[in-house]
Amino acid sequence: MNDYIVIGYPLAHSMSPAIHNASFEALGLPHRFGARALQRDELDAFIKALPASQIRGVAVTIPHKTAVLPYCEVRESEVEAIGAANTLLVREGILSAFNTDAPAAGLALREAGVTLHGARVVVIGAGGAARAVCYRLLHEGIASLTIANRTFPRAARLADDLRRTVRSRETVSAIPLAGEELSRALAVADILVNTTSVGMHPREDASPLPAGMLRSGLVVMDIVYNPAETRLLREAREAGAKAIPGTEMMVYQAVEQERIWLGIEAPVDVMRKALLRALGKAP
Ligand code: ATR
Repeated sequence: MNDYIVIGYPLAHSMSPAIHNASFEALGLPHRFGARALQRDELDAFIKALPASQIRGVAVTIPHKTAVLPYCEVRESEVEAIGAANTLLVREGILSAFNTDAPAAGLALREAGVTLHGARVVVIGAGGAARAVCYRLLHEGIASLTIANRTFPRAARLADDLRRTVRSRETVSAIPLAGEELSRALAVADILVNTTSVGMHPREDASPLPAGMLRSGLVVMDIVYNPAETRLLREAREAGAKAIPGTEMMVYQAVEQERIWLGIEAPVDVMRKALLRALGKAP
């Protein structure tokens, strides 16, 4: 019987069961983590049935990350600011919503030895994932944030929103994902984070920017985790930059989920190994 579950659609390639079950097993916990492919019109009935079910925690993925919010009595402040949750806790009939994608971005960078304080950061993308990453990095004391997006107005809108919600003194700017402005931003950047799906299986030959813009001294993190080494990361490594794979963010968002669900310090190495093993079998 599954007491933890991931919901989303489609779900065929979710890595969450492999990661969490490996952790539960390593810790000798009696829990089981399952998966339920759930279409949009099935969400309402599923969530309403949660309090009376045996399920204690839900990992939420596309397309439900925003749709779950109205059902949650408690919403962590970060969830409110980002407008999306990837984790639900079911306790005494009450649903609480959390976002562990946001802390995972900071953790993956810090655990790789990257200093966030005072860093100049360029984020590619302006969707939901970008919002979570940007919001958290602005709280980690970075010096500047440049959002580069294919559709420039979306980047400008996200930059405006962030300036309003974070009220920090960091400079937040928006640029198009091409041309002179992108080159200039990358020439002085310390950290580059790709939050788009460009480079994801099966379009593994794609990269969000030309290899010539990468250089040593830059830290490049990708949130794409299939393949574990995207074209962007390979070209970053070849340019002498430090490359942090999306598998790190995937693992740390799961570590944070187990802290919320069970109050435990999850075994990072076990979870990372389980993820890489599952990815090895993935198409
Ligand atoms: P998510 O919630 O996963 O971030 P999203 O809200 O659909 O998903 O956002 C996807 C992001 O990837 C957007 O920034 C999108 O750029 P646009 O705003 O221009 O659509 C970006 N993206 C997707 N495919 C892309 C591509 N081929 N090249 C560049 N950017 C791309």
